[in-house]
Amino acid sequence: MKDSMFQTIQLGQLTLANRIVMPPMTRSRASQPGNIANEMMAQYYAQRASAGLIVAEGTQISPMGQGYAWTPGIYSQEQIAGWKKVTDAVHAKGGAIFAQLWHVGRVTHPDNIGGEQPISSSALKAENVKVFIDNGSDEPGFVDVVEPRAMTKQDIEHVIGEYRQAALNAIEAGFDGIELHAANGYLINQFIDSQANNRSDEYGGSIENRLRFLGEVVEAMSDAIGADRVGVRLAPFTSLNGTVDNTPVETYTAAAALLNKLNVVYMHIAEVDWDDAPDTPVRFKQAVREAYQGVIIYAGRYDTDKAAKALEGGLADMIGFGRPFIANPDLPNRIRNGYPLAAHDPATLFGGNEKGLLDYPEYQAV
Ligand SMILES: Cc1cc2nc3c(=O)[nH]c(=O)nc-3n(C[C@H](O)[C@H](O)[C@H](O)COP(=O)(O)O)c2cc1C
Repeated sequence: MKDSMFQTIQLGQLTLANRIVMPPMTRSRASQPGNIANEMMAQYYAQRASAGLIVAEGTQISPMGQGYAWTPGIYSQEQIAGWKKVTDAVHAKGGAIFAQLWHVGRVTHPDNIGGEQPISSSALKAENVKVFIDNGSDEPGFVDVVEPRAMTKQDIEHVIGEYRQAALNAIEAGFDGIELHAANGYLINQFIDSQANNRSDEYGGSIENRLRFLGEVVEAMSDAIGADRVGVRLAPFTSLNGTVDNTPVETYTAAAALLNKLNVVYMHIAEVDWDDAPDTPVRFKQAVREAYQGVIIYAGRYDTDKAAKALEGGLADMIGFGRPFIANPDLPNRIRNGYPLAAHDPATLFGGNEKGLLDYPEYQAV
């Protein structure tokens, strides 16, 4: 049963050792000032290099793309050099690692973006959404997001250029590829989901129009580094960070068809992951399988059994285990041998130092 998880799989030019993905997880430990990936992060990812694929934490493509204090960027030379430490450490242990490229759009606060007003598809504020700031004066903490301004055509072109450059920077930093973060209510999701987009130009209205920005960003990045090194993460059914689509099955099946046409190497679907969340409809997973020929990854509350079933059912090619990877650096080995899993400490997820990042041990048989 578990064998299905330990078959190799081809991902573009890469042959991955197993079907287990460490999905992107923000840990907010980049070096300050400058939001630079560091030695501590390199050790953390290297400890988890037995995953078939690591997708590193959300990484802003520009200063305007940052939503939370202390997340890493990939637009300065120092940031590229910081990430090189991470990719070298993972490759030394035989792992594969993609960068997750992130622009938060409206999910931020002026204190995180140099005092600017955030940008989005539309001038619509995300309701009941908070972000973490560290403005240097008061205690760091959570604040409400503010109303963004709608991006002009010029802004759109500019941000597409930033994504393109970030993809090039990721390759320079030694990543095996990039994952475009189009999930969880951030900028690209703010174009896709009908309730976050009230534009009346060619970027709003119909599904085709709301997918236009996604398509143009993917094309620009693929042109720069090759579609066989570009994956995309989508979150069809979540309302995370205040984005909701009125017809998610139709919208995201169309997204799958678009990404198929653009030949991206994988689609990574973030499923709803809170307790008692409804399952993703099987008819949607079937529609994605029919529309899209590349590698399909699902993540969200998987355990060994559910993952093995998903792979054997044929609608998924790889499975992401998020929270389990935090406290179990040797997760694939534990899954293979049926060893118990350790629980993570929620208090050390974001910010801080080695504690809760590097000190989770591998399994020791007693
Ligand atoms: C601490 C933490 C940080 C996360 N950060 C990101 C992120 O930067 N980008 C992203 O796409 N998803 C992020 N996620 C979502 C995870 O990638 C994953 O989809 C989610 O945890 C569900 O999987 P799980 O139930 O196996 O944990 C984060 C999740 C956690 C727990």
